[in-house]
Amino acid sequence: MAVLYTDIRELVTNDPANADGDPLGIIADAAVVVDGAHIAWVGRRAAAPDADERVSCRDSSVIPGFVDSHSHLVFAGERSAEFAARMSGEPYGAGGIASTVAATRAADDATLLAGVERLADELLHAGVTTFECKSGYGLTVDDEARSLRIAKAVTDETTFLGAHVVPAEFRDDRAAYVDLITGPMLQACAPHARWVDVFCDRGAFDVDETRHILTAGIAAGLEARLHSGQLGPSAGIQLAVELGAASVDHCTYATDDDVEALAGAADTTVATLLPGAEFSTRAHYPDGRRLIDAGATVALATDCNPGSSFTTSMSFCIAVAVRDMNFTPAQALWAATAGGAAALRRDDVGVLTVGRRADFVRLDAPSYLHLAYRPGVPLIRDVVRAGQHTVEKVETQS
Ligand code: NIG
Ligand code: FE
Repeated sequence: MAVLYTDIRELVTNDPANADGDPLGIIADAAVVVDGAHIAWVGRRAAAPDADERVSCRDSSVIPGFVDSHSHLVFAGERSAEFAARMSGEPYGAGGIASTVAATRAADDATLLAGVERLADELLHAGVTTFECKSGYGLTVDDEARSLRIAKAVTDETTFLGAHVVPAEFRDDRAAYVDLITGPMLQACAPHARWVDVFCDRGAFDVDETRHILTAGIAAGLEARLHSGQLGPSAGIQLAVELGAASVDHCTYATDDDVEALAGAADTTVATLLPGAEFSTRAHYPDGRRLIDAGATVALATDCNPGSSFTTSMSFCIAVAVRDMNFTPAQALWAATAGGAAALRRDDVGVLTVGRRADFVRLDAPSYLHLAYRPGVPLIRDVVRAGQHTVEKVETQS
């Protein structure tokens, strides 16, 4: 059945061909026809073809569904006390992860699944129509494998992050833990994961360990992505480029050489910035414009996790990126949609053109600019994913 979504004041397509090369590809006074799960037509409202059903978007802005390329949703417990301590001056360190690991190991499958489903629903209500989800709070063979099985219930974009930190029981023998990751843990997890990731930073894994783990993951058929440069400058950023990782995430302390390397790898390795992490750890914000102007491909993601960034709101991330990370509103929206799709190597989402998946969001606003202009205001009005109204159905006239 074909559905015509019309009366769109401003349609962001992310197809530059629609707007003289402008990356957001905005069409004014637009309409979209959806057939099943996919987009069948996009253009000016006056030229729209007939359809079986007609939905009025009430003169609002419609944008592609957000693509969140970085989240850690499989965990038990929460760390609000740690957050409060940070806001009173305590520093953030990788060590806090251990308390979530203990809670996660102690939780039963049903508890973990319920938590993942609740956060997946939160993401959807926040306008996120595609998201990645990592393991990394189990850190045993069985707990990592079950984390990925549980993540699989809500997304196909699952990431094996056995290399999140070295767990306490291996504190005196890191090499043995790396052997476990690259051996039995990888074997148990690879069937449930698309990606392999490492937290390559101070207090987590060094560059040699990271190279070894990513190389083993790639040999097992996974694609690489990386956490690096969150807590200090790290050679991990250039390692990600060297290994052809799809994304290197955080990049808070990227050096000029790192920026140059990322610019040279713009078709391969996305620089993913995570504003929620700097916000929630009171860290300094990286400069998004510096990466974009150099020619790097940049994504924004929530990094939803209980320690450093417990948000599912891409609108919040966009507002912070604009206010504190030197993104223009247009660059931030692109990074949260097409940028996220690039970071997941997906060409079926993040762009509203014929044949792509019908994933879009109607904002309760006349322009996408309101995402940053009206921070904290719930502007996500209707969410359509794969052609289905998943949040609230807009006004229909047959
Ligand atoms: O992406 N940096 C590593 N992992 C998470 C934080 C995890 C935690 O503190 O629980 C992140 O920020
Ligand atoms: Fe993370």
